[in-house]
Amino acid sequence: MNAQPVETRELPRTSLKASPITLGTSYLGRGTVPGGPGEQAAVEFAEAMLSGPYALVDTSNEYAQGRSEAVLGIAASAGIGPGRAIVTKTDRDVATGVFDEDRVLWSFEESCTRLGVERIPLLHLHDPYSVSFEEATGPRGAVAGMLRLKDQGLVDAIGIAAGRVGLVAQYVGTGLFDALLTHNRYTIVDQSALPLIEEATSRGMAVFNAAPFGGNLLAKGAASGGSYNYTASPPALLEWVARAEDVAARHGVTLPAVALHYSLRSPMIHSTVVGVSKIERIAELERLRTTGIPDELWADLEALGPAPSPVTD
Ligand SMILES: NC(=O)c1ccc[n+]([C@@H]2O[C@H](COP(=O)([O-])OP(=O)(O)OC[C@H]3O[C@@H](n4cnc5c(N)ncnc54)[C@H](OP(=O)(O)O)[C@@H]3O)[C@@H](O)[C@H]2O)c1
Repeated sequence: MNAQPVETRELPRTSLKASPITLGTSYLGRGTVPGGPGEQAAVEFAEAMLSGPYALVDTSNEYAQGRSEAVLGIAASAGIGPGRAIVTKTDRDVATGVFDEDRVLWSFEESCTRLGVERIPLLHLHDPYSVSFEEATGPRGAVAGMLRLKDQGLVDAIGIAAGRVGLVAQYVGTGLFDALLTHNRYTIVDQSALPLIEEATSRGMAVFNAAPFGGNLLAKGAASGGSYNYTASPPALLEWVARAEDVAARHGVTLPAVALHYSLRSPMIHSTVVGVSKIERIAELERLRTTGIPDELWADLEALGPAPSPVTD
């Protein structure tokens, strides 16, 4: 347990500070039920996240069907330390796909109830894929709901958190959002979010880069045959990743360390969001974060040529 989170920096346009890493909780509480046998272990894991080396924990209304927020709420009920916060996201109605102003307000209410709070310091609009950009930004659309929460002082800052670069660029282009969370698109395999990150930076937004391991493959390595961006990896990608592992090994480091530092070294990224599924991952992650990467490695990695990224949007 750390008394203070490590290496905090201001998150522009928000009331928050972030550590270089933010812990992602899409796995947290999955399969648990209130008061059920797995809940206590999940709460202990959440307590470790909230008292560990990093200032922020990232969740969402719909992660683990609401159990991620619920477990974090139990863990935080005795209070969390100064300089620490939970960031969450509004989600569509999963049954109907409705994602309008009313749904955003209700999603916020659900999140507050589960987290045991009355206000949220940073609330993202999450994966607005079930509605068009025009619907979301039109009268009584989801964006109106986000703005209303901010106007009422119930959230300090609003973000857009999603993958598809073209769509997210439209939301960033409105100038209404304080933060960007992109994922799987600024890694050693795929850099398609770079123009988006540059645009957000030029607008003075806070920038989170999530899934530096592509959700799996870059943490587990080519031999695992792991997925990238939550889909099966084609053979050409596994071959490229095996070559990247050789580059890492030649420089005395591991593929996950290289994958993590690719994001950490960008001056435009305020915090890198990494998913963890068990307590020991937190200490492992801190060891990866403090691993020194030789400067020459990056040129050798670039010499491999671009990876055959499976991301097509
Ligand atoms: N639209 C959005 O807003 C959006 C989308 C994607 C992600 N996110 C956020 O970003 C977070 C991260 O994304 P992600 O979890 O999908 O992808 P990720 O961070 O690229 O990868 C997570 C995987 O890395 C492994 N891992 C983590 N630390 C490790 C370590 N020290 N050593 C070895 N393996 C390690 C974990 O393995 P184990 O399972 O074995 O622990 C986990 O399976 C999410 O939890 C979520 O909070 C947001």
